[in-house]
Amino acid sequence: MQPTLKELTYLVLQAGEILRRAYGQRHQINHKGIIDLVTEVDHQSEAYLVGEIRRRYPNHRILAEESGNWSGQECCQWYIDPLDGTVNFAHGVPFFSVSIAYQEEGQLRLGAVYDPLRQELFAAERGCGAWLNNVPIYVSSIPELDQSLLVTGFPYDIRNRTDNNLDNYARFSMRSQGVRRLGSAALDLCYVAAGRFDGYWEMSVNPWDVAAGGLIAQEAGAVVTRIDGDPDFLKPPPSILAANPFIHPHMLRLLKEKQPAS
Ligand code: IPD
Ligand code: CA
Ligand code: CA
Repeated sequence: MQPTLKELTYLVLQAGEILRRAYGQRHQINHKGIIDLVTEVDHQSEAYLVGEIRRRYPNHRILAEESGNWSGQECCQWYIDPLDGTVNFAHGVPFFSVSIAYQEEGQLRLGAVYDPLRQELFAAERGCGAWLNNVPIYVSSIPELDQSLLVTGFPYDIRNRTDNNLDNYARFSMRSQGVRRLGSAALDLCYVAAGRFDGYWEMSVNPWDVAAGGLIAQEAGAVVTRIDGDPDFLKPPPSILAANPFIHPHMLRLLKEKQPAS
């Protein structure tokens, strides 16, 4: 038996309720890195999702951010981000989500992302389209970077690496109407899908950050690749470039441009 989009949406709505109820309270904050946080709520949401998926599909594989790999059949792979936007959540900033994707025989088939504070449910099924609260969504049709509003994110090890995306941030800021940093990769992708942003890139992401949102963006008409243009955006090391089909080539070119020696 294979899951349905209805099941995924049920799961993100339930997990989103865990996040919504806990939002704004005091949290136990642990550090996975200097600026990489995890709260007890990340774990609660993940325990619920892993428990439900294991109960319904005991032979499926799961990759979940906090508990890692759960073994199962190669054909049937789930990706779970129980709380995307933990830094926002921990600071009381109302922008975060829960994200689940299901991949069959190596191809993403179902994705659901839920923003519990705005009650926005983004979902997609391969070949059938993408929806926001059951209404079909589409990417923007802005043709030029000059007219675009973009979004990006930065790696948690930003302090320890030179390819930390700050140079791209500066260059895209000079070429677009602005580059936002909202702090939830899954929602960044869904906002591209809904035409709110025209493009999103991030240099270093994990499969659980982008699997559901990547499918939702694709089904809404976005071109979704790695930042080197490889269409397999889950292939390690995962990175992401999602944009409407007109500006994707412009963004790709700018990302590939060599920096002049300083
Ligand atoms: C992070 C957020 C952030 C992105 C990071 C992700 P987390 O996920 O999506 O926007 O820039 O790359 O790791 O840690 O909040 O689940
Ligand atoms: Ca994440
Ligand atoms: Ca997370």
